[in-house]
Amino acid sequence: MRGIVFAIFSIVLTKIDGLHLDAGQCPLLVPSSVATKIPSQLAKKRPNFITIAHRGASYSLPEHTIPAYRLALELGADYIEPYLVATKDNKLVAIHSIDLNITTNVASLYPERHRTITLDGTNTSGYFVFDFTLEEVQKLRVKQRLDGRSTSFDFSFPIPTIQDIVDLLHDWNHDIVIKNNITKRSGIYAELKDPQYYLQELNTSLVDIFLKEMEQNKHADKMFFNTKNQTHFGCERMGEYQVPPLVIQCFDAETLHEMRSKLHSKGMAQPPYVLLANAKHCHLPGFWYEVGKLGFISGVGPDKKCVIQETAGKEFMIEAKKFNLAVHPYTAREEIEFVTPQFASAEEELRWLYCSRGITGMFTESSDLGVRIGTRGCEDFETAEEILKEDITEMEKEDNDKQLNVTISQDLCSQFDNKDDTMKSAALMMIGTCVGLLMGLFFSKKGHSTNKGLQQKESSKTIHLGKMKGMKKLPTNDDGGSHSDDDMEII
Ligand SMILES: *[C@@H]1O[C@H](CO)[C@@H](O)[C@H](O)[C@H]1NC(C)=O
Ligand SMILES: *[C@@H]1O[C@H](CO)[C@@H](O)[C@H](O)[C@H]1NC(C)=O
Ligand SMILES: *[C@@H]1O[C@H](CO)[C@@H](O)[C@H](O)[C@H]1NC(C)=O
Ligand SMILES: *[C@@H]1O[C@H](CO)[C@@H](O)[C@H](O)[C@H]1NC(C)=O
Ligand SMILES: *[C@@H]1O[C@H](CO)[C@@H](O)[C@H](O)[C@H]1NC(C)=O
Ligand SMILES: *[C@@H]1O[C@H](CO)[C@@H](O)[C@H](O)[C@H]1NC(C)=O
Repeated sequence: MRGIVFAIFSIVLTKIDGLHLDAGQCPLLVPSSVATKIPSQLAKKRPNFITIAHRGASYSLPEHTIPAYRLALELGADYIEPYLVATKDNKLVAIHSIDLNITTNVASLYPERHRTITLDGTNTSGYFVFDFTLEEVQKLRVKQRLDGRSTSFDFSFPIPTIQDIVDLLHDWNHDIVIKNNITKRSGIYAELKDPQYYLQELNTSLVDIFLKEMEQNKHADKMFFNTKNQTHFGCERMGEYQVPPLVIQCFDAETLHEMRSKLHSKGMAQPPYVLLANAKHCHLPGFWYEVGKLGFISGVGPDKKCVIQETAGKEFMIEAKKFNLAVHPYTAREEIEFVTPQFASAEEELRWLYCSRGITGMFTESSDLGVRIGTRGCEDFETAEEILKEDITEMEKEDNDKQLNVTISQDLCSQFDNKDDTMKSAALMMIGTCVGLLMGLFFSKKGHSTNKGLQQKESSKTIHLGKMKGMKKLPTNDDGGSHSDDDMEII
C-alpha cells in the first residue's frame, strides 16, 4: 500500500517538476566508464563508491579536528565532512553540535557559561557555541566523543574554522596529490547544523555566513564556485572522475533551497545538494513528496536503518533510483554495538549495503573501510539465493555419501553376523565397531540435519533480502534492528 502511494507520488512529481542538474553541477554518482577496481588504475580512476569520512577519521582521532580530517584524506576518503555552526561573532566553526560541552573542555574553561534553551521543543542545557566568540572557542580543546576509542589525543587539538578546513583541502588537492601524481582529489561534504534555530531564535542565516566565509577564502571561489571553467566541478574529465569538490547537506530542505537561490543570485556555480533523513523521516509518505518538490537535489543521506529494513528499505532504494539520486547512508562504525544485529561486522554490513542494496556511498568513521569495500567490488559477493543453492547442493551431496556408507556398513555387519562360531569372538568386536559406526552415523546425521534445518529455515526467511556468509538472523519485524543510534537526529 505504502509502496503504491510512493509510486503515485513520484510519478506525479517527476511529471510536474522533473529533476535537473544545474549548470556546472555534477551528479554524485561515479560514471561506470570511470569506475575501476584495478589497483594500478586507482590513481586515475576510482571505485564506483563514495567514501565520506564521517566527521573525519573519527574512529582514530577526535572528530572535527584538522588532524582527523587530514588522516581521513590520507586513508583515501573522497570527502571530509564538517558540521558547521556559527559563533557569537558569526564565524563558522566545525564541531559535533551547537553544544560545546559534548566534545570539548568548555565546562572547565568557562564553568559559568552554560544555560538552557528550547531546541526542537525540548529544553536542552549546554554551553552553546553562539554564546561564545571565535576567540573564546579557539581556546577550547577537543576530546574523543565515543567511549572505548583512544583518548590519547584528547585535548590536543583546537576546534577548526571553515577557513582552516578549506585551506587543508586546498593543500591536499593542489599540493600533496599533485606532487604525488595522484589525480584522485577529494572534497568537502558540509552540513549546516540547526539552521532553523539560528534563523528563528538568533535572526541569523547560516547560509549567509557560509557564503561570506567562502568569499573571504582565497581558494574557495576557484575550488568550488568557478562558473568559467566548469570542468572543475568533478564529473568525467579526460577519462578520470573527480568528485564534485563541495557538497551541501542538511536535514532541513528549506536551507538547501536558500543556499541554491542565493548562489544563483550571485551567479556562482551550484554544488550538489543532499537531503538528510532520520529513521522516522525517511518512511513518512511526505518524504518523497518533499524530495520531488525540492527537485534539484543530487542525493539523499538516510539513516542506514532506512535502507536495511526488509521491505521499506527496498522501497526506499527504488524511490531514490526513480529520482536518480545518490544514496549515502549514515553511519558505518567499527564497533559491534553500532552494527545492525544481523551482520557480524561493520565490513559485512557495508558490503551488503553496497553489493546487495545498491547504495552509492556511505558516511564512515574509518575511511579505509569505505575505500576497501569500494575497491574490492562485488564480484565475489553472493546473494542469499546463491548461498542457499550452494548449501542445498552441498547438503544433498553429503547426504548421498552418508546414505551410501550406511548401506555399506549394514552389509558388512550382516555378513559378519552369519559367520560360524570360530569367527564369533572376532565378529563380536566387529559388531561393536558396526554398532558404533551406525550410531555415530545416526547421531551425526541427526545433528547435521537439525543444523541444516535451522539454517535453511533462517535462509528461507531472509532469502529475498540477500545475505552474506556468517550473517546472523534478521529481525522479523520491519524495525531494522533494535540498537539505538545516537545519530538519529544529529549525524
Ligand atoms: C522549558 O522550560 C520552561 C522555563 O523553565 C518551562 O516553562 C517549560 O515548561 C519547559 N518546557 C518543557 C518542554 O519542558
Ligand atoms: C557537561 O558535560 C559533563 C560531562 O562531560 C556533564 O557532566 C555536565 O552535566 C555537562 N554540563 C552541562 C551544563 O550540560
Ligand atoms: C610524476 O610524473 C612525472 C611525469 O610523468 C614524473 O617525471 C615524476 O617522476 C612523477 N613523480 C612521482 C612522485 O611519481
Ligand atoms: C534580523 O536581521 C536583519 C538583517 O540581518 C535585520 O534587518 C532585522 O531587523 C533583524 N530582525 C530582528 C527581529 O532583529
Ligand atoms: C579548465 O580546467 C582544465 C582542467 O583543470 C585546465 O586544463 C584548463 O586550462 C582550464 N581552462 C581555463 C580557461 O581555466
Ligand atoms: C563415506 O565413506 C568414504 C570411504 O570410507 C569416506 O571417504 C567418506 O568421507 C564417507 N562419507 C561420509 C559423508 O562420511
